[in-house]
Amino acid sequence: MRRSIVRGVGGYLPSNCVTNADIAKSLDTTDEWIVERTGMKQRHVLADGQNTSDMAAEAAKIALANAGIDAASIDLIVVATVTPDNPFPATAARVQAKIGATNAFAFDVNAVCSGFIYALSVADQYLKTGMAKRALVIGADAMSKILDWNDRSTAVLFGDGAGALVLEGVDESHADYNRGIHSAHLFSDGGCYDLLYVDTTPACAKQPGHVRMQGREIFKFAIKLIGEAVETVLKSNNMTVNDIDWFVPHQANLRIIEGISVHFKIPMEKMVVTVDKHSNTSAATIPLALWEAARDGRIQKGQKVVLEAMGGGLTWASALVKW
Ligand code: UT7
Repeated sequence: MRRSIVRGVGGYLPSNCVTNADIAKSLDTTDEWIVERTGMKQRHVLADGQNTSDMAAEAAKIALANAGIDAASIDLIVVATVTPDNPFPATAARVQAKIGATNAFAFDVNAVCSGFIYALSVADQYLKTGMAKRALVIGADAMSKILDWNDRSTAVLFGDGAGALVLEGVDESHADYNRGIHSAHLFSDGGCYDLLYVDTTPACAKQPGHVRMQGREIFKFAIKLIGEAVETVLKSNNMTVNDIDWFVPHQANLRIIEGISVHFKIPMEKMVVTVDKHSNTSAATIPLALWEAARDGRIQKGQKVVLEAMGGGLTWASALVKW
């Protein structure tokens, strides 16, 4: 069996940065409440006319440059998103055209905030079996387009962004064979629809729809399900928290990240936190955090990185990647 190793990482955040104070000008909320309850201080918001595929393509170009790989050598593009430019074609196909990855096949995955780990796992299957050799896995969401900007219980929580990894399948003779995706674990429970969903679609009501969330309930599920996902990935790899160099959690709320840190006795220094700067960018939180921590030199080649997420569906997931 081949192994999927990370060759490059990239990210993109729109230039328009919106602070809590900016939001408080038009909504009954305060910087103090948002910081205390979520840890969020700002988020990036797309300009009019920009779409998810624009962000995804920018992140992809940076990841390709980081890998030193030409777009034409990519044979698979998977985009995790809940905010596709169009119901069809897939945002991945739009990215393919924008970056000139003419030899790839391309499709989207929707697993909401767990989407990036799902997409990673899907690409991993193709690379392990040799059905694809080089893949771009992208998490990208334009949450600002599906928020109800009059609903303070959701509008303050999300931001826009995209992150991308370039993966390559290598066989046992390769010097880097011990690196890469060691395991990924995916879970769903479709019974909790009411807790987190978008209330309509262009297909069912000819209008875009808005995010609806029972925040307190989702919070409880997040702590429980992310905890289970972390336990699963550690157990599957015969590892303890002490063996892991970095935890890269989905960034929905600093209190959830701190809760996991306390439960597993993971020092906060080992947690990559971006929620203060990016807020919750849905499928993009994890690749953006990887991009940031790799760029500033925290995550080093060969280090063990645990990814974990939970989101609408419900879906939850974890993975172990040797960088
Ligand atoms: O990424 C997908 C997964 N998503 C998550 O994991 C999110 C999980 N949930 C959360 O992070 C938290 O539940 C929230 C941040 C969404 C909410 O925090 P909370 O501490 O659970 O607050 P709450 O919903 O229990 O609301 C507490 C109070 C309420 O007022 P009353 O009823 O106590 O008077 C809300 O109306 O805070 C009020 N409130 C706000 N106040 C100021 C809710 N949103 C705001 C706001 N500004 N933006």
